[in-house]
Order: sequence, then structure tokens, then C-alpha cells
Amino acid sequence: MTIYPQARLTQLPIQDIDFPSSFAADFVSEFVKACELDNSGSEIYHSWKVCIMACRIGKKLNLDRNTMKELFFASLLHDIGGVMVGGHVIDLLTQIPDVYGQKSNFRIFVHPHRGETILGTFPTFRNISEIVGTHHEFYDGTGFPKGLKGDKIPLCSRIIRVADAVEIAAQVHSVDDPDEIISLLGIFSEEEFDPEIYKIFVDLVKNEALFDAVKNSEAVEKSIAELKKEMTDHHLLSSPDTLNRFFKMVASIADNLTSSEYNHSLRVAELSVQMAYLMKLNESEILTIRWASFLHDIGKLAGNRSVYRKREKLTDEEWLNVKAHPQRGYDILNKVAGMDKIAYYILYHHENQDGSGYPEGLKGEKIPLASRIMHVADAYDAITSNRPYHRKKQQEEALSELKKNVNKQFDPNVVEVFSKFLMS
Ligand SMILES: [Fe+2]
Ligand SMILES: [Fe+2]
Ligand SMILES: [Fe+2]
Repeated sequence: MTIYPQARLTQLPIQDIDFPSSFAADFVSEFVKACELDNSGSEIYHSWKVCIMACRIGKKLNLDRNTMKELFFASLLHDIGGVMVGGHVIDLLTQIPDVYGQKSNFRIFVHPHRGETILGTFPTFRNISEIVGTHHEFYDGTGFPKGLKGDKIPLCSRIIRVADAVEIAAQVHSVDDPDEIISLLGIFSEEEFDPEIYKIFVDLVKNEALFDAVKNSEAVEKSIAELKKEMTDHHLLSSPDTLNRFFKMVASIADNLTSSEYNHSLRVAELSVQMAYLMKLNESEILTIRWASFLHDIGKLAGNRSVYRKREKLTDEEWLNVKAHPQRGYDILNKVAGMDKIAYYILYHHENQDGSGYPEGLKGEKIPLASRIMHVADAYDAITSNRPYHRKKQQEEALSELKKNVNKQFDPNVVEVFSKFLMS
């Protein structure tokens, strides 16, 4: 098989990457919100609320622009390591509010480190990943996972600790009375919090109505929208190479949680790009297909994730949940300026040539070519991987399965190109 030089893709001129300066803030906030949806599909906004409160504290401390950006992204992503196959670490934290219980619960204990590891795969987020790794450290050294003390804990992590504890306390005790939260937190404040930061927090609550910014979903949406305007950045994710690494990191979160084989999305991207080359699509289109492939299953993160690992037959309701993932992926990405084309390709990656696919039952050429390409790559990787419902098959057998489904599931031209690629 001849492999085309993918390296060229990362050297496209920057002006071909037409993402607005709000891209990083938009993408990360929408992605995090989707990961935190509960099984009924409602937003819980935990990380958004933590972000809003942390940034207000950061402003009072007169943090410089760069540190404010790190605080913004780290607080949004602080619990990303707590996204689990079934549920989210926030559910556990609200059930086990004391730190000794939290330390002995493996899934809670490991989530800061897991977040640090995931984000650490993306070099641009190195500082952010360190902050995330230490967001459960306590000022007196009794936190976790490392037991760091005082100023050894990064400043942004100490800020997030206060905002996070406040948000969890507000959920556990369902209180929205500022005085009640302050008296609740007061009991642990000396062990858990940096006293300077805690003082600023109390002042913000008492004198500047901090809780008004997080009191309901409209207030939260408005506060995040305002913060995002301050977080515009033309450099953070401006080169194709950086974006590639960023999307790869996001793909690995989706793959690790929902696919029983690691790197599924990365392999789908490799195969789709090879087909796109053979079909002589232009380079910017190939790049778009590559990124759409990286992200094709991110809709699986929003909703009941346990169904993707289930070995038994799915119930009708679980099937509906599975079938909703292209639409959910579209919904996440379509809110991010610059991602509309990618969102559109993802929406149709499970449409079939004969109209029997989902979500819209589109037929033949009505399905975007990029989605038809991804559909073949996705199916091939599924057939040649072990899945809960089947053992993996070899290349030849997989190819004959694809060919059998030409004009039903797959576009005949795409399968022909793919077959040529595999045989070359
Ligand atoms: Fe956490
Ligand atoms: Fe949290
Ligand atoms: Fe999919």
C-alpha cells in the first residue's frame, strides 16, 4: 500500500486556516459543556460555573493577560479527566464530599492526573495541564493526588480549588444563599484554601454579587459569552500543525471513552486522507476531511456513554442514543465559528448510499463526498478491529464485506478507490 505524504498537510500556509480568534475559547467551552451533559441531556454547567468564579477571582488579583487565559482554559478543562464511560466525576464528588472519602475513591483520586496526562499530549497546553493536575491539592498539604502544600501549588490551581469547592457545595446542599455557602465552606477553609484567595472570594460574594453570575443557565451563558470575548487569541491555535495536535487530543478523549479500540478516530483520519488524495481533492479539502475524521465521533461524549461499551444487545432506547451521535457532534461543533463545514461532514457520516442510514436518510450524491469517504474508512476500521459484538477480520475479508455493501451502505466509487489503495 502506498502512503501519501501526510507531512505536507501540516505545512499549508496559515492563511488557509480560516478560524476566527474566538476559536479556542468557543471550541473548548462547547466541548466541555457537552461532556458534562447528564443522561437526560440537560446541562449541569459545573466547569462553566467554576470558570466564571475563578476568572472573577483572577481579575481581582490583577493577573496578567496570559495567566488569565491559562486560568480560563484550565478551569474549563479542570475535570476533563473525570469524564467517564458512565457518568462524570462530578456525580461522585457530590456523593462523597469529604476529602478522605475522595482520596480513597479511585475514580475521584485519579481524575486530576488523568486530565493532566490527556492535556499534556498537546504541548501548547503544557501549563494548563499542570494546573489541572493540581486542582485538588489543599493549601495545608492534605489534598490529592500529590499532597503539595502552600505556594508549591500553582496559583491558578489554588484559585480553581476555591471556585470548585464552592460549586460542589452549592450542588450538594442546594443552597444559593451566599451566607450559607460561606458558613459551610468556613469550616474547611483553613485546610483547603489559600487564605488570600479565599478572602477575595468572600469579598466578591458579599460586595460584588458573585453568585448572580452563576445563578441560573441564562446568567451562566451570558457570563461565559462575556469572558470568551476577552479570551480571543490569534496565536493559540493558529497553525495547522497546532490544530492537528489539538484535534488529535480531542479525538483521543472520544476514542478512549467510547471505542473499545484506541486510536479509532486517528486511523479513520489516516484512511480518509489517503482516499481523498487518490480522488485528487484539493489540499484544504483534504485537511478538512482529516479534522472531520478526528472529530467524527465526538457526539458520543454527549449523552449516555456506557452504551458504546455494552456487550449485550442494545434496547430500543439505547439504539436511539447511539443513532443521535452524528447530530450531537454537529450540535457541538456548529456552535463554534469556523467549524461549520466539519460539523456538516460529521452530521452525515452514518448516511447510507440507498437512503437507509441516519440521521436524515440521505441518498447517494446528496450525501457529502467527505461523509461518504469517512463512512467507508469508519466501517473498514470497525471490521478490522475487535468490538464488543465481533472479532476483528483480516484485510481481504473486510474488503469483500465493503464490496458486498456497495450501493447499499457505501458509494461504489469510494469503495473502488479504497480497494485500489489497499491493493497498491
Ligand atoms: Fe475535580
Ligand atoms: Fe470540578
Ligand atoms: Fe460514528
